[in-house]
Amino acid sequence: VRQLMKQRRPPGFPPGPSPIPVIGNIMSLATEPHVFLKKQSEIHGQIFSLDLGGILTVVLTGYDCIRECLYNQGDVFADRPSLPLFQKMTKMGGLLNCKYGKGWIEHRKLACNSFRYFGSGQRQFERKISEECMFFVDAIDEHKGKPFNPKHLVTNAVSNITNLIIFGQRFTYDNRNFQHMIEIFSENVELAVSGWALLYNAFPWIEYVPFGKHQKLFRNAAEVYDFLLEVINGFSQGRVPHAPRHYVDAYLDELEQNKGEPGSSFSQENLIYSVGELIIAGTETTTNTLRWAMLYMTLYPNIQERVHREIDSVLENGRVPTMEDKQKMPFVEAVLHEILRFCNIVPLGIFRATTQEAKVNGYTIPKGTMVITNLYSVHMDEKYWTDPGVFSPQRFLDSNGNFVKREAFLPFSMGKRCCLGEQLARMEMFLFFTTLLQRFHLQFPPGTVPTVTPKLGMTLQPQPYSICAVRRQQKS
Ligand code: HEM
Repeated sequence: VRQLMKQRRPPGFPPGPSPIPVIGNIMSLATEPHVFLKKQSEIHGQIFSLDLGGILTVVLTGYDCIRECLYNQGDVFADRPSLPLFQKMTKMGGLLNCKYGKGWIEHRKLACNSFRYFGSGQRQFERKISEECMFFVDAIDEHKGKPFNPKHLVTNAVSNITNLIIFGQRFTYDNRNFQHMIEIFSENVELAVSGWALLYNAFPWIEYVPFGKHQKLFRNAAEVYDFLLEVINGFSQGRVPHAPRHYVDAYLDELEQNKGEPGSSFSQENLIYSVGELIIAGTETTTNTLRWAMLYMTLYPNIQERVHREIDSVLENGRVPTMEDKQKMPFVEAVLHEILRFCNIVPLGIFRATTQEAKVNGYTIPKGTMVITNLYSVHMDEKYWTDPGVFSPQRFLDSNGNFVKREAFLPFSMGKRCCLGEQLARMEMFLFFTTLLQRFHLQFPPGTVPTVTPKLGMTLQPQPYSICAVRRQQKS
């Protein structure tokens, strides 16, 4: 912290808006920070700085600048900031918020291997996702075309895919304890970027102020960790060493193998943190993407109709979609990409920090400086997108209707700390989305049109909305 809080802008540091005494620029992050920060870059440049209550922060804007730092200087921008909040939550261990070093390497490797071994590398895994898709559309069918808020069903279905990898099992949609855990965990994702959290980072002594949202954050975290410990213990019952059934078993193998090794980062505590991080990182994001997709398909009936047509022409007689079908469905691909670009699920990425002194665009950034990657600004970058403010799946298609990749597309970020669940998320989005639209026509309850203004937090999600899912065809 001392390192983070050192000084006012040091020599060679990027410029930025003038800070208000003591709290600096914290208040400017209160509403739509990603939009505000993009506007600030028009005044101060692609790389500029903020003072978050004494914590000097560098903000990276636009594709060129973010690529230069996260990719060309990958090792330099690979750390996470040692903010008091993160120190309190996961002691800079676990995986997602882990310091860049041995602990992160060990945890990232284990998670990547497990995701491959128990997930996408397994032949039956795709079938298991399809099974979950069926539970999901059957549960929606129970609403019989009447209005309902899809949030809980989407959350349950999506988190079950990660649950399969982590615990080897899905949870049924009526499991109240699991749902409660996810609910308070995602509340924390929201609270983590609230004004209170920023204040706590700048002034950790407010830990002793007995009211305020930071207290709620700590209470929620304690409850989540208790729940996870119990579930981990439950699912590790009957474990046979060196014959892992899921991520938790694989972790316990590592823990046992490295027992007594002085430098080992595997511990009961880091197991709980990484399980929690994998669950929430996988669930919040993919759920929000699918909820946005449902909302936009309903707002744009023409686009929905074209999706229906493509699905019907590829999946003859209503057969179940598989990943092989993806290349035959360029329009579905284009829609999902445009949702990720336009809706900016993780608008400011996950905070980074420098591992050593960095030189960018002639500026000097000291080691340990907090770095915000404005991924929203990449997706709105005028240099790479025409009319970025318009929702148009067409921009991902060529004149023959083939899908085309676009460079300035970073919903999963890039470089050393890029999203490790990208492949899994892409499978889930494709299979859930096509299965859903194969069976249903989505429309708003008569007389209602929900807002597209997002709810703010680390991730952007739609405000709660009701939808009618009207069956299109008989299940074959
Ligand atoms: C990191 C986006 C799905 C696990 C990230 C980051 C972003 C992101 C922007 C920050 C990377 C950085 O620091 O630059 C998304 C989106 C998803 C998604 C948009 C879905 C549409 C998933 C899934 C999982 C996952 C399904 C796993 C189950 C992680 C983890 C990290 C991460 C563990 C931290 C990586 C590290 O620090 O080394 N994700 N993600 N994500 N994501 Fe995802």
